[in-house]
Amino acid sequence: MRKKVTVVGAGQVGGTTALQIFQRGYADVVLTDIVEGLPQGKALDILESGPIIGSNAQIVGTNGYEETANSDLVVITSGVARKPGMSRDDLLFTNMDIIGAVTREIVRYSPNCIIVTVTNPLDAMTQHAYEVSGLPKQRVIGQSGILDTARFRTFLAQELNVSIRDVQAYVLGGHGDTMVPLVHYTTVGSVPVTELLPKDTLERIVQRTRDGGAEIVGLLKTGSAFYAPAAAVAEMVDAILLDQHRILPCAAYLEGEYGISGLYSGVPVKLAAGGIEEIVSIKLSAEEEAMLKQSAAVVQELIDSMRKPRV
Ligand code: 2OP
Repeated sequence: MRKKVTVVGAGQVGGTTALQIFQRGYADVVLTDIVEGLPQGKALDILESGPIIGSNAQIVGTNGYEETANSDLVVITSGVARKPGMSRDDLLFTNMDIIGAVTREIVRYSPNCIIVTVTNPLDAMTQHAYEVSGLPKQRVIGQSGILDTARFRTFLAQELNVSIRDVQAYVLGGHGDTMVPLVHYTTVGSVPVTELLPKDTLERIVQRTRDGGAEIVGLLKTGSAFYAPAAAVAEMVDAILLDQHRILPCAAYLEGEYGISGLYSGVPVKLAAGGIEEIVSIKLSAEEEAMLKQSAAVVQELIDSMRKPRV
């Protein structure tokens, strides 16, 4: 029997994520959104690609949650996206209300699911979903590090004119301006990147990675990135539903790991059938550790504002 994945939100990220999962063929997909016709239309269009690409998976669109019942995994993409000039944090309260409502419905119909969140501001929204869901921390995971790392790897591969397959890197921390690319652990064909590129080039690439989301928003003008975010989610879905035990950078609830407690932050985790099987510990330099703590402090500020009574 195929696995069942629900994608909440049929916008660009949700629609593309649903397509990517459908194309793999091992899971049926339910695409849900409040906009009438949108999830149904996208789902039918994707379904009709099945005979061409050879996927026997099923996909349906709906405006409710009944069809999502007993999903193995639910991807939450709902929420408003950034417009030019907006930070991810400007979205806090609007998306908090949306994520809260969506999460309640998800756990009502799929109490045994694993939740993967994509909505920004990512770390705070993942924490909100975790708290509202009542699910174990292993089963509520945020997507951001895979995307940030993919951007970092792309820019490095372009700079060095090598295959992206030979660039190994991790970007940790919150999904925002304070994300932490681990430059001294980055290798190209096993050679430390610090031996291949001068410091100022690396700094430029790190900054471009931090600004990676805003660069796309600036170009698209009416929305934010969706192809690479969807690819990142699909990699997490594979790791979980195919029990791959992949080590990937994801937003995870930390209880003392990396010196951070009671907060979601991007760290390397082992992803398998039960969700986060392990938070992988990497020895950081003093500078990286300080940057990770600074990044966590920014997320903590958002969590504190979410908890304050609204006026
Ligand atoms: C990005 O980094 C939208 O946060 C998303 O592109």
